[in-house]
Amino acid sequence: MSKRIFWFISIAISVAFVVWFYLGDGVAGLAKWEIKYRMYLIYIIVACVLQVLFALLSVFWAKKEPSFLKIFANVMATLLCVVFIGGIAVVNILGSLTPEADGKLNLLHSGETLPTKKNSALISHIAIASDPHWNVDTANEERRNEIMDRIASSGYDAFFCLGDVAEIGAIPDAYVKPVNDFAKHLGNMPLRVIRGNHDALVNTRKKFGYYFGPEGKYEPYFRISGNGIHCLFLNLLWGTEDWTAAQEDWLVSELEAIPQNETVVVFSHCFYFGSGSRNEESGVNWYDIPDMIEKVTPIFKKYNVDLVVSGHNHSMEFLKDENVSYAIIGAMGGKPDDGNLTSYISPKSLWNAYGEHGWIDLQVYEDKLSVIFMRYNGEPIYHVEIPTK
Ligand SMILES: [Fe+2]
Repeated sequence: MSKRIFWFISIAISVAFVVWFYLGDGVAGLAKWEIKYRMYLIYIIVACVLQVLFALLSVFWAKKEPSFLKIFANVMATLLCVVFIGGIAVVNILGSLTPEADGKLNLLHSGETLPTKKNSALISHIAIASDPHWNVDTANEERRNEIMDRIASSGYDAFFCLGDVAEIGAIPDAYVKPVNDFAKHLGNMPLRVIRGNHDALVNTRKKFGYYFGPEGKYEPYFRISGNGIHCLFLNLLWGTEDWTAAQEDWLVSELEAIPQNETVVVFSHCFYFGSGSRNEESGVNWYDIPDMIEKVTPIFKKYNVDLVVSGHNHSMEFLKDENVSYAIIGAMGGKPDDGNLTSYISPKSLWNAYGEHGWIDLQVYEDKLSVIFMRYNGEPIYHVEIPTK
């Protein structure tokens, strides 16, 4: 193979790696929201540009006879190409490693699978929590376990966990302890778990599906219904980076198919309206997310979604925007946001709490939803009823 072809192939590999990596699941959001990871991405792009320059230099512009510049350009271009090939291998291997967990979960399938109490005024009783953040010292394991124990002993029909299960999804055994702990504390409780931005670090769809997809396959968005109650789960990690036309079309077609008098609750990791603070380091506002509000919430309003529940902020909050209620419950063990740093209260906020761990107790009745924010020790903190007719 001539040297020219070799270098063109090496350039193609490096450019393809950068494009593939950046378009990978959760990476664009990471670049936007976290300065330290944004810097890593810039290093990768700079390395790719240098590799292209060194490769071109060694083929076209260096003198015919060996010179220090030519040797240096060859060595650097080869080294960088090897680094990019290694990068593809490492990211793929880490994202696909699925060490076996002993725990067996009763994962709810999509479709008409929501357990309900058919002959009772209370149609369905659901527990919801988000952001447990397994595998990091700053999380509170004791309270996370207590939350799961109380949920298991309270007779719920199902439990939904809204993401940031692991601190970093790509580490090889990221989900072994979460699966074992879910199984140990929840027993046979029907469960569904969606991904958060931390789970999506990075390219972890397959891996997450292996542990939490009911058939071992990842579903980015899906519906679980039962007895006129419809739970729609969206794939929104950091913001609208994953808000594809396909996901929007799916949401609209699902909402159009649901009779207006039936109850609809939407779940996602990322919140829409929410109080919070400005991350001065990254230069981003971690509150009322403009893209989420502009692109997604008009659909909730149009189709009279009754309640939208999210995590992402490590706090508890209840908000209302016209006909749609919003709840944030990122309190399943991850380090709570510091209320003293909260510089912005959303105009849609009706109640919020910082420094708490807990879950939401959602009761679905024929004509209303009862939403109770529960402290980890089983104490109710805030109760609101939402008429659904
Ligand atoms: Fe989180």
